[in-house]
Amino acid sequence: MQPAPRKSVLVFRELPPDQLARLHAAHDVIVANPRKPEQLALFEQALPRVQGMIGSSYPVDAGLLERAASLEVISSISVGVDNYPLPALRERGITLCHTPGVLTETTADTIFALVMATSRRLVELALHVREGRWNRNIGEDLFGWDVHGKTMGIIGFGRIGQAVARRAALGFNMRVLYSGRRDVQAPGLEGKTTRVSLEALLAAADIVVLTLPLTAETRGMIGRGELQAMKPGAILINGARGAIVQEDALLDALNDGRLRAAGLDVFATEPLPLDSPLRLHPRVTALPHIGSATHETRHGMAELATTNLLQALAGERPAALYALG
Ligand code: DGY
Repeated sequence: MQPAPRKSVLVFRELPPDQLARLHAAHDVIVANPRKPEQLALFEQALPRVQGMIGSSYPVDAGLLERAASLEVISSISVGVDNYPLPALRERGITLCHTPGVLTETTADTIFALVMATSRRLVELALHVREGRWNRNIGEDLFGWDVHGKTMGIIGFGRIGQAVARRAALGFNMRVLYSGRRDVQAPGLEGKTTRVSLEALLAAADIVVLTLPLTAETRGMIGRGELQAMKPGAILINGARGAIVQEDALLDALNDGRLRAAGLDVFATEPLPLDSPLRLHPRVTALPHIGSATHETRHGMAELATTNLLQALAGERPAALYALG
């Protein structure tokens, strides 16, 4: 049998050495991270001749696709595909792959860490100790809020939303509501979750958690009206994408005391600009988009993305193909 022809692959974000070695064994590899100014020229030079691209966290727009005339496959090291121009990919017949599943539990852990941090004021109280302000027993002004027994409302009840629900219902005895177009039979949660309208969820939840993808429909969907419809003193957790929330409306809801706190792993602009009022807000716990950022999970994502790319370039169906419709 003839060996499969070698193709050219552009790696636009760091890959672990073992995964890079798998690519080198099968194809010609160019590593160029366009976020690094010194590598941008190499990235642009490579674009027209590569058949495959692998990476993440870089906006691949329709203009960039035009410069990538030989492109057959993009393998994203992410579950979210909001960085890619889906209609243009469909039109060009370019395959898109992503990394669902391998990051579910880790991302749910991060989201639950934000639930705990905001409710129990963990960052604020850890700073209290670190900065030498713990000179007497803390008083009510620094007390937190129980998580167990509360109501959680999850908007976006896919894999990650369901994994958060398992932690809430089974670990913390919480009542779990979710919104969405259809009933979901989440494994392990039989009889423990209820689908309600978005309005009912916002009105009833003590903690609202966003775990839905960013699309044209969800962009800006949590605005002034939705924040005002939340239960007074509720907490908002965003582990999805920053642009789902209108940040100016969120700031107002925090400032006027409507919301108790917000736990945010994602922002409309990332990295979060230094002058963003969310950065130093006393009732915001902000993380630098670390939903999936553990050694094990980031390696698992890189491995799945590499497998996807190798399969797609060999003309096979990739393990995690994103259906472009
Ligand atoms: C994902 O996989 O989509 C994470 O948010 C990282 O971008």
